[in-house]
Amino acid sequence: MIRFALALPFAAALALAGCKEKPAETPTDAPMQAGAQRMVAPVLLTPDAKDIHSYAVPAEARVTHVALNLTADFQQKILYGTATLHVAAAKGAKRIILDDKGLEIVSVRSRSGEPLRWQVGEGDDMLGRPLEVELAGADRIVIEYRSAPDAAALQWLTPEQTAGKRHPFLFSQGQSILNRTWIPTQDSPGIRQTWEARIVVPAPLKAVMSGEALTPEGEPAGEGKRAFRFRMDKPVAPYLIALAAGDIAFQSLGPRTGVWAEPVTLKAAANELHDTEKMVDAAERLYGPYRWGRYDMIVLPPSFPFGGMENPMLTFLTPTMLAGDRSLTSLIAHELAHSWSGNLVTNATWADFWLNEGITTYIESRIMEALYGPERAQMLKSLGWEDLQNAVRDAGGAAAPATQLHLDLKGQDPDEGMADIAYEKGAAFLRTIEAAVGRERFDAWLRSYFDRHAFQPITTRLFLEDLRANLIKGDTALEKKLQLDAWAYRPGIPSNAAAPVSPELEKMAAAAKAYGPETSPDALGFNNWGTQERVRFLNALPRDLGTEQLQRLDGTFKLSQTRNSEVLFAWLRLAIANRYDPAVPAIERFLTSMGRRKFVEPLFRDLLAQADWGRPIAERVYAKARPGYHAVTAGSVDALLKPAEEEAAKAEKAG
Ligand code: BES
Ligand code: ZN
Repeated sequence: MIRFALALPFAAALALAGCKEKPAETPTDAPMQAGAQRMVAPVLLTPDAKDIHSYAVPAEARVTHVALNLTADFQQKILYGTATLHVAAAKGAKRIILDDKGLEIVSVRSRSGEPLRWQVGEGDDMLGRPLEVELAGADRIVIEYRSAPDAAALQWLTPEQTAGKRHPFLFSQGQSILNRTWIPTQDSPGIRQTWEARIVVPAPLKAVMSGEALTPEGEPAGEGKRAFRFRMDKPVAPYLIALAAGDIAFQSLGPRTGVWAEPVTLKAAANELHDTEKMVDAAERLYGPYRWGRYDMIVLPPSFPFGGMENPMLTFLTPTMLAGDRSLTSLIAHELAHSWSGNLVTNATWADFWLNEGITTYIESRIMEALYGPERAQMLKSLGWEDLQNAVRDAGGAAAPATQLHLDLKGQDPDEGMADIAYEKGAAFLRTIEAAVGRERFDAWLRSYFDRHAFQPITTRLFLEDLRANLIKGDTALEKKLQLDAWAYRPGIPSNAAAPVSPELEKMAAAAKAYGPETSPDALGFNNWGTQERVRFLNALPRDLGTEQLQRLDGTFKLSQTRNSEVLFAWLRLAIANRYDPAVPAIERFLTSMGRRKFVEPLFRDLLAQADWGRPIAERVYAKARPGYHAVTAGSVDALLKPAEEEAAKAEKAG
């Protein structure tokens, strides 16, 4: 159809980039029989789709399928085994370049077992190194390898770091450029790959992955081990290949939804995630069929560095979302939304991260609105708008390049950007278009956008092209009104953005502003408020309250004891801003009991901002907490603490 000519101007020229159904061959080293049909997704080869965070040269040769056969060794903290890669090479191409970070490569062979020449080239700390394999005509290569014990994508937890305390646990986190520490493939979001895996773990552990489970109960694999097999027959970006293994159990939530968790957490998890099936239904009504079969989730141990990660068919979740009252489930709406924006239509490079997260944040509030009504959705939108204002301020103001949607990430780790901009400016952009054309037209366009780009990469340029071709359609007045290029390519918030206001939350903000030494906390009604109201109130309180007022708040509402992580986080930020000593034990408890970066990093940042009061607390707590953190979180906090240490060392030297 013509639409491909629009989206993929170069596709026709390259056999390796064509989108065609191709029958799967039987892999030699395959851990399992391959499925009937396998789709080969196109790669974009335009300049805007060039991924500077991968060594792959897809125009030369690309990976189309990955078959893993790996054993987890919890003693050595390594995964070892083989990765069989299916390769589509351009005519005359002699080599394929893969991404490798810290892998120990044992051998590389063709499917018939002939050794292939390979070398690991120069690289750097951020990207790892290129693994170059001479193809010698091979269309399939078998790499025998081991991951390193400090592979950044993997966290190996001791039994003490789990909720059940009896068995070890392993989980992976691929986004953005971490999967190259355990899978030797082309680790670029624009190079989609189907995959299959056989994972061997010690009994009684179970393994789960972001694909279809072929052996839910596992199979005996000798020496007290069990093997679990998986398959993803839809081409996905490689950062979406994910693995977890531990003492976990499953509870069904609906016909196609369910949750995995450690047995001691399972009941609370199932209760919290009660509405998930309804969310899937609502999302489908808005954006078309859910294309991934099941939507399951796994609640991980508390060191999981994110709130959620949208691994296909199996969202990974932090246990800090288990508030007990389902008040933090917009997180599920968010991860589910990625089944369209992110997993189905995927940012071609991390410079276009906003196309994953901004569209997802927009859809998240649409799902919340469909389930819980416009008032709750409006609250979440207005909190997001607050976050956006703060993010613009933190980035250095409306002229800062970091406030652009399309980013220039040269020399930058994609995980260290200004995330809130992508989320909230991106969502505000979509809301602005929606307001201009009306919801009905906008919904129809967005739904058709997912169909047009399904299982393909997207760039900002292509997004705008699609918008112009299929929504604006030459309406020059509309084009002018929307300011598309300002939204996508320029810093700051364009003048046509509308601030979402929640009258409900404004009441809490007003109450906070009016809160003084004379105010009785009892008069506030705080205990009758929901999570969002409480967070709004705490965030709007003046930062110079004084010990007595804080004591009254804490005493009346038991803030330091709250089980709600978002409320606790807002409270602790306020406490730190006031150098409120009685909250220090709660700060220490929180920072040593979970590793979600969104909470951990700002709290350490706040402590450091309180120089002589906060730094000793930060250093003491971090020494205790760091061993329990995932590399993603530890890396971010290291970066906060290090500069000051270096400065201190310098000052010491200077005398
Ligand atoms: N895909 C992201 C998590 C992510 C982003 C991992 C960038 C690595 C790099 C996920 O969908 C997400 O956005 N999680 C948020 C929750 C959301 C409700 C804002 C989180 O973890 O806080
Ligand atoms: Zn997201």
